[in-house]
Amino acid sequence: MTTLNGVVDLDVAGATISRHLYGHFAEHLGRCIYEGFWVGEDSDIQNSDGIRDDVVQALKDISIPNLRWPGGCFADEYHWMNGVGPREERPSMVNTHWGDVVEDNSFGTHEFMRLCELLGADPYVSGNVGSGTVAEMSDWVEYLTRSGDAPMSRLRREHGRSEPWTVPFWGIGNESWGCGGNMTAEQYTQLAAQFATYCRDHDGNRLYRIAAGPNRDDYHWTETLMKSISTLGGPARSPKHNGWQALSFHYYTHSSDDWDHKGSATEFSAADYHETMVRAWRIDEIVRGHARVMDAYDPEAAVGLVCDEWGTWWDVEPGTNPGFLFQQNTLRDALVAGLHFDVFHENARRLVMANIAQTVNVLQAMVLTDGARMVLTPTYHVFAMNAGHQDATSHPVQVTAADATHEGEAGSYRTLTTTVSSRDGSALVSLTNLDVDGPAAVRLDLRGRGWDVSRARVLAGASVQAHNTADAPDAVAPADFDGARKETGREGDTLVVELPPHSFATVELTLS
Ligand code: AHR
Repeated sequence: MTTLNGVVDLDVAGATISRHLYGHFAEHLGRCIYEGFWVGEDSDIQNSDGIRDDVVQALKDISIPNLRWPGGCFADEYHWMNGVGPREERPSMVNTHWGDVVEDNSFGTHEFMRLCELLGADPYVSGNVGSGTVAEMSDWVEYLTRSGDAPMSRLRREHGRSEPWTVPFWGIGNESWGCGGNMTAEQYTQLAAQFATYCRDHDGNRLYRIAAGPNRDDYHWTETLMKSISTLGGPARSPKHNGWQALSFHYYTHSSDDWDHKGSATEFSAADYHETMVRAWRIDEIVRGHARVMDAYDPEAAVGLVCDEWGTWWDVEPGTNPGFLFQQNTLRDALVAGLHFDVFHENARRLVMANIAQTVNVLQAMVLTDGARMVLTPTYHVFAMNAGHQDATSHPVQVTAADATHEGEAGSYRTLTTTVSSRDGSALVSLTNLDVDGPAAVRLDLRGRGWDVSRARVLAGASVQAHNTADAPDAVAPADFDGARKETGREGDTLVVELPPHSFATVELTLS
């Protein structure tokens, strides 16, 4: 059986796990914005100002901390001025990246900011570097965040909003090495400094500017950006140069390198599962690799690392538009999420934000909609069960007996992973057992505080292919679980958890 023996000092604080590691991403892609969020004020689906209530409630229930919009690749062909003013007068455009469909711009800046208000989430706006101008981006910041009698604040008022909004997060382009302009690291680095300079902090708004960083493990890109920041004297904020405060990278999990055959979301073999987990674990070496490069230029971790696109990417569901990236979501996806979170938590000193791709109806979604019906995916339940880690203090787990690895043709992967954090008199232990066939035993020697188990829950299923549909919405859902107990011995108190095969579990503790 897979085992993990570890020691956790509950009175020793590791990094704080930013709630923004639980961030989301919604692009104008397929049925994410249209149908997923936006149904329009006249829809029969219950909505607030055109935004569907069921999806908003589901995301509020997992404490969604921020939402990145409008892309993705779409961000670098989006011209924000086309998405403000009376809807019937807004010009349309072609969404060349995603399905070549006509975008009528009915969901624009005001609709997005309203969505964030309904969600209680911080907006993260991705600006257009690829086909936009510095002036256009600068105006957008002014339109959103400036009060008083400035040209863009007047225009905003004409469009019905008198007060500026608060916009904490700002992206300087997206995937500038690819769909965002096919640039070299050197070219982009120059542009990032230029665009960031004109994204001003108006009134009390303080932008956290996020430069478009590397794909996967392109450490040269990270190094080029970091070198430039040291030339400019750090992540500066001055009237002359605003700099950027973080850089982002993207990493998707597939089970093959063949983009035309990424594999089915629901019908996959044991070999596909193995390959998926080997590749999912690469997030660990990639986060650490970028952090190492950043440490060399910025040992104090003043510059943040952001993973603003992550998750699984499978073939689209049969019969759906290949450009819409609509995929089902199984227990395998949930386990990929569980392991990503443990890696994110462990690297929380440098990693300040992560955004799963994407929130509704696209890639590794939280919710899938079918007309008026909405289904919560297994991945959603991992976000829900892990919500207690948001803004909590992590406690490093010293592993005293190594957990097992699974060997296969495509390499091996660790099958057991865990996070322990605490906040406000309680602690949360989350555990992921990736072993497809075997149960796992975890023994954690929890020291430094008194504790008791208050609740344990498990997300499991008959197979890793298990998933939820509109007709069977709870095939994979969290259940209370009696596999967690406290054992008291001469050496102290041990939390013992017996996990079923391919499962994710959380144990809540009351601290004294
Ligand atoms: O999330 C889908 C796409 O993946 C995004 O638009 C792009 O940034 C990435 O390549």
